[in-house]
Amino acid sequence: MRHAAYVFDAYGTLFDVHAAVRRHAGETGPDGARLSELWRAKQLEYSWVRSLSDTYLDFWQLTEQSLDFALKKIPTVDPAVRSKLLEAYWSLDCYPEVPAILKSLKASGARLAILSNGSPDMLASAVKSAALDQVLDDVFSVDQLKRFKTDPNVYDLVTTSWRLYPSAVSFQSSNRWDIAGATKFGFRTVWINRTDQPDEYHDLAPALIFPSLEGLLTVE
Ligand code: LAC
Repeated sequence: MRHAAYVFDAYGTLFDVHAAVRRHAGETGPDGARLSELWRAKQLEYSWVRSLSDTYLDFWQLTEQSLDFALKKIPTVDPAVRSKLLEAYWSLDCYPEVPAILKSLKASGARLAILSNGSPDMLASAVKSAALDQVLDDVFSVDQLKRFKTDPNVYDLVTTSWRLYPSAVSFQSSNRWDIAGATKFGFRTVWINRTDQPDEYHDLAPALIFPSLEGLLTVE
């Protein structure tokens, strides 16, 4: 038996946030990748500002507002693609290894969940569309707290609900800042460094680093 409980960040870790722009690459054109990066960066910035200033809006609203900013900032992308990009967010592709790894962890007897900034309806839709609903025991959304990661109360949603000590939970995220928050909370953290980013937050280091979730099956 490996860990008793595995909790996954959603966007960037299980679901590819850049799949929306890729799916409409013909319409977004050569600046599509830049648009996607800016869209994501602003979405996250808004989550931190909304949390710190106690002016919560749900993650769907932040997703819309950040796309609007990115489309204005990069006017070479036709804004007519807006509704298609937003629609794609409800059925983002999951990374190719995700279904098999989750099934394997589940078969070993572990409990599995998502813990995400996403609003409950966004997450339910993405989970269903990737057919992950069969393997996940829970999907925890920050929405009930009206606070985003890295507020410690967000990570506490899992341990309170599952009545576990933080150290009993293996938390996986591709977002290094999320790993920092989860490490501070006390989870055993695994940074899924999908895009070979340099390390940061050195005082809040992950226990393990893998390029994909496949690494989880190699540790005891
Ligand atoms: C999430 C964001 C951080 O799923 O990607 O929580």
